[in-house]
Amino acid sequence: MKIIAGNWKMNGSRDSLVHMVTALQDIDSKNTVILCVPYTMLGVDGGRVAIGAQDASAHDHGAYTGEVSANMIAATGAKYVIVGHSERRQYHGETNDIVRAKAAAVIAAGLTPIICVGETMDEKQAGKTMAIIESGVRESVPNDANNNVIVAYEPRWAIGAGLTPTDSEIADAHKLIADTLTSMGLGDTPVLYGASVKGTNAAQIMSIPNVDGVLVGGASLKPDDFIPIITSVK
Ligand code: PGA
Repeated sequence: MKIIAGNWKMNGSRDSLVHMVTALQDIDSKNTVILCVPYTMLGVDGGRVAIGAQDASAHDHGAYTGEVSANMIAATGAKYVIVGHSERRQYHGETNDIVRAKAAAVIAAGLTPIICVGETMDEKQAGKTMAIIESGVRESVPNDANNNVIVAYEPRWAIGAGLTPTDSEIADAHKLIADTLTSMGLGDTPVLYGASVKGTNAAQIMSIPNVDGVLVGGASLKPDDFIPIITSVK
C-alpha cells in the first residue's frame, strides 16, 4: 500500500475539491490518498480522501496576522499539513529550523506533517545533493516525532519542470533518508518522492526501494490526471 498525496498549491476552489473527492470515492485502490489544499477549502468532507493543509504557523495563537495555527487546521477535520515545501523555502525564506518548529506544532495538534527536503539545481551541480538531503532531514524533522511524520524528497529543480532524477538518483536519496530517519529512531517513517510525478511515471517511481508513495503537484488537480497515479500501484 502506498501514500498518494496531492498538493494543490494556490489552485482550485471548494467546488473543484468536491468534484475531485466525489470522483475518488469509488476508485479501486487501497492506497492512502491525501489532498493538501488552500486553507479556504478546509472543512470540505473528503470521504475516503484525507484532507490536509500546505503550511501551518509555528505558533499556537496570538498576534501573527495572516498565520493559521495547526490547532485551527485540526479543528476543520484535516489530518495532514505539508511543511517546508520548496516554494515556502524559496519565497518565504523558511529554513530547516523554521520547518522543524512548524512540524513540531503540527504534531502537537495531533496532525501528521509531510516534511519536504530536497536540493536546488545549484546545490546539485555543486555535488551537495546528499549533504543537503541529510541535513534537511536531521534539522527539519523533530527528534521526538515518534514516527508521526511523513518525509517527502522533492528535488527542487525538478518541481513543475517536467524533469525527474534518474531511478538510481531517487534510490540513493531515499536510501539516505531512510537510513537517516532510522538513526534518529524514526525508522517507520514513510518517505514520498515528489516532483513531476504523472500517471506515466508513478508506478515506476513507486517501484524504487524506500519509495513509500508520491507527492503530486500539477497532476493532482484534475481527476483524469490524478486517478491514474492512484490506480497505477495496488
Ligand atoms: P509537481 O509539484 O508535481 O507539479 O512537480 C510537486 C510539488 O511541488 O509538490
